[in-house]
Amino acid sequence: YQIKFPENEPVKGYMPGSPERAALKAELDRQLANPVEVPLIIGGKEIRTANKGKIICPHDHQKILGEYYIAGEKELLMAIEAAEAAKKEWENMPWEHRATIFLKAADLLTGKYRANLAASCMLGQSKNPFQAEIDIICELADFLRFNPYYVQEIYKQQPNNTDGVWNRVEYRPLDGFVAAITPFNFTSIGGNLPTAPAMVGNTVLWKPSSTAVLSNYYFMQILIEAGLPAGVINFVPCKGSDFGKVVVSHPQMAGFHFTGSTGVFNGIWKQVGENISKYVSYPRLVGETGGKDFIFAHESADIEALTCAIVLGAFEYQGQKCSAASRAYIPESLWGKLKGRLTEEISKIKMGDVRDFTNLMNAVIDQKSFNNIKSYLDYARQSADAEIIIGGKCDDSVGYFVEPTVILAKKPTFKTMVEEIFGPVMTIYVYPDDQLDETLKLCDTATVYGLTGAVFAQDRAAIIKIAKALDHAAGNFYINDKPTGAVVGQQPFGGSRASGTNDKAGSAVNLNRWISQRAIKETL
Ligand code: SER
Repeated sequence: YQIKFPENEPVKGYMPGSPERAALKAELDRQLANPVEVPLIIGGKEIRTANKGKIICPHDHQKILGEYYIAGEKELLMAIEAAEAAKKEWENMPWEHRATIFLKAADLLTGKYRANLAASCMLGQSKNPFQAEIDIICELADFLRFNPYYVQEIYKQQPNNTDGVWNRVEYRPLDGFVAAITPFNFTSIGGNLPTAPAMVGNTVLWKPSSTAVLSNYYFMQILIEAGLPAGVINFVPCKGSDFGKVVVSHPQMAGFHFTGSTGVFNGIWKQVGENISKYVSYPRLVGETGGKDFIFAHESADIEALTCAIVLGAFEYQGQKCSAASRAYIPESLWGKLKGRLTEEISKIKMGDVRDFTNLMNAVIDQKSFNNIKSYLDYARQSADAEIIIGGKCDDSVGYFVEPTVILAKKPTFKTMVEEIFGPVMTIYVYPDDQLDETLKLCDTATVYGLTGAVFAQDRAAIIKIAKALDHAAGNFYINDKPTGAVVGQQPFGGSRASGTNDKAGSAVNLNRWISQRAIKETL
């Protein structure tokens, strides 16, 4: 039996009158009326602690969706024991059987639990139906279907033999457990970070983001229903400091799969360095971190395509995608027309509650994020080096709402042009048409990041030149398209520089990081 190259899960439109729309609406109402309790799951058992947190709706922060239990040091140690205890049996399970569990989970989440998962992601992480659909449904199912395919391709590779010698390679998991810390902004990444190492036989401790616990927990339940054995993935929402202390310094930690901020990943890397002689194996550190993703327009760019890319690339999901466009370099000759088109399109954006499906934008994730974005907007408002030309208002009285905002920077190194904001804020620098080379250099060097970027040009020579000049500025580079929305199996996702280790999520590169080969030579 061969797993064929999978098809991507088709995106549903939730159009008026469609059965999926009716099911989703009903499920949103049901979840709002029935707060849930989210336990830890350690060694297959539900654990409740004395420490609890609230799960709220970011767009309506008085609405409580439920409560979750928080693991302390004791529970984290229990989870390590559970992961170690489950390891041999899981590792020895024929890989096709491990794969079947994840393939079954993909079918469950795109089938009978589709509305359940999409609603939890919409309410808990403030996503519109399309953003929830491409995340927790399509991309998550794609990860679960493509990872087994790529594993099959890895396992097929065997070395050459010579006369009287039989060489072979065994593809073993790492010698220890894997720790996964996952972000709020994509439940697909929340699901991929623990399941990719598990796919090749590792057992895992999973610390979900405290602001995505609900959808992550529903996914964990699907894994269990699909047949994931107890202890293979242990679900432990907890404080980062406890996870750092107990898990990251543990001698058996053999791998670390992370998506989140550059600062947190740097802290973990440092901690691993300080403990390096304690580990049984050198831990494999895989991280996808921050970004300051760019759009670079050439004078030959198509204005309509550029307008669309800025609006969707910067403001979908409130600019909280690590791939979101947040700085743009626009030639002077295009600026007048582009400014008019942006003003026109951005004024049409509706923002509000996720239950109104006509809202393109909803709320940012929490008070901390709201305050942080607001401080950048206040800074820009008071600065002589910038002008807020569209939006700029914030209101947290009901939910954490920030208007889609465009800042015009007079200097290319203005704060909002170079620092990650993680909100619906686009900063534009207008450059003289005859200073293309200088501006490309600025774009390449102005930030520490290298995640995504896009070039807009019709002139082929310009495309070639710009792509070359920015060859390490983005791990995902788009030509005449917005820099968000990478699809598993089509555009493997990840970046380098301060944006991560570029071990492309949902690819053979990533899966190989969780494998430790044994090369065997047998003389016959
Ligand atoms: N993969 C997402 C995108 O490309 C970001 O995590 O938008």
